Amino acid sequence: MENEDVGQIEQSGGFEGTSSFVCLEATGSGFQVSLDDTDDLTATATEVTGDLTGDLSAPEAGGADTADLDLTADDGPALDEIGRPPPLPPPCMTPEQTLNFERGILGSTLAGCLMDARLGRGAVGSVFLARHLALQKDVAVKILNPALFYLRRHVEQFFREARSAACLEHPGVVAVHDVGQERGLYYLVMQYVEGETVGDLIEREGQIDAREAVRITIETAAALAEAHDAGIVHRDIKPSNLLLDSRNRVKVADFGLALQLSEARQSSGRSEIAGTPFYIPPEQISGGVVDERADLYSLGVTLYFALTGRRPFEGSTPAEILVKHLTESPVPPMELVPTLGEELNGIIMRLLAKKPSGRHRDARELLDDLASLPDESFE
Ligand SMILES: Nc1ncnc2c1ncn2[C@@H]1O[C@H](COP(=O)(O)OP(=O)(O)OP(=O)(O)O)[C@@H](O)[C@H]1O
Ligand SMILES: [Mg+2]
Repeated sequence: MENEDVGQIEQSGGFEGTSSFVCLEATGSGFQVSLDDTDDLTATATEVTGDLTGDLSAPEAGGADTADLDLTADDGPALDEIGRPPPLPPPCMTPEQTLNFERGILGSTLAGCLMDARLGRGAVGSVFLARHLALQKDVAVKILNPALFYLRRHVEQFFREARSAACLEHPGVVAVHDVGQERGLYYLVMQYVEGETVGDLIEREGQIDAREAVRITIETAAALAEAHDAGIVHRDIKPSNLLLDSRNRVKVADFGLALQLSEARQSSGRSEIAGTPFYIPPEQISGGVVDERADLYSLGVTLYFALTGRRPFEGSTPAEILVKHLTESPVPPMELVPTLGEELNGIIMRLLAKKPSGRHRDARELLDDLASLPDESFE
């Protein structure tokens, strides 16, 4: 599923985190950063990336310039002479600018990969199918939206994604091969998963039968259990991040918002709101401690959506959805699909508990519960 409305942004100031800007506009599957000044976007993007429609395939001495990546340095705009920060730069490209950017990428070589086709587009960049020329194999390359580079946090997030995922070796996790910066573009080279996302599947089918939805949940929970054991919380579990390979097995993508558990446990009160409004757990909205049980909540929302074709909390604005996560009880899925049975209904309601302590203790406990579902749950 693609975010074709990537350029549709809305100003909002209601959900400040630790950074000076706010992630708030839903784009179908993710927030877009909302800011007001979009006037000199072209200038900003070009200044940061160079001429995007230029020849990216020309060889560059030294290849990927990862040595330049000093993520500890604040490369944001300098204060002016009387100490005021300049106006924040526009972080989103218009749809036309995004398309031009993507057209400039296609056919070019970046990180030793020949860019063949666009696979999709998300909140932080575009994903391309590419040929890794040295390895002679297909890969997926995510390229960060150049309008975001200006904001150091997004670059950090991009690299955090790479590091988190690179730590994990599991058949249920999309492998990360490489990460770097070349010609001013930040990229991530990952395993290409040929197939569709669970989001695409739900969109196509409307809803998924219980046996298939539970299988997807079990495979996702197994991958999460491995990540959690490694101290990594995904923090952005949702249907578009669950890829289905050619044999229909789940591969979890985008450990982009992942956070080391130790860091998560220390952070309280000041954590940033990040993620997708439909799947975001209450503690991530309210700035509470986010641990592995946050992923269980998001997986519960995903399972609810897969089974019923509806998210537990819907609304016309992201703010409305966020408030519902915090305050409303979901309609039990069994009321929408009576065949589900008490046991599966109970598992989903437990995953959707407002307080992490009300949910399963960890992914393994969830796996045990799912494994002991009676056959009637699948009739
Ligand atoms: N490794 C991959 N192999 C094949 N297709 C991929 C891969 N990674 C992403 N895609 C495709 O690219 C699309 C966009 O992915 P991306 O992660 O940029 O955005 P998203 O997950 O839809 O949203 P968000 O940015 O909010 O996480 C996905 O929906 C999927 O169709
Ligand atoms: Mg994604």
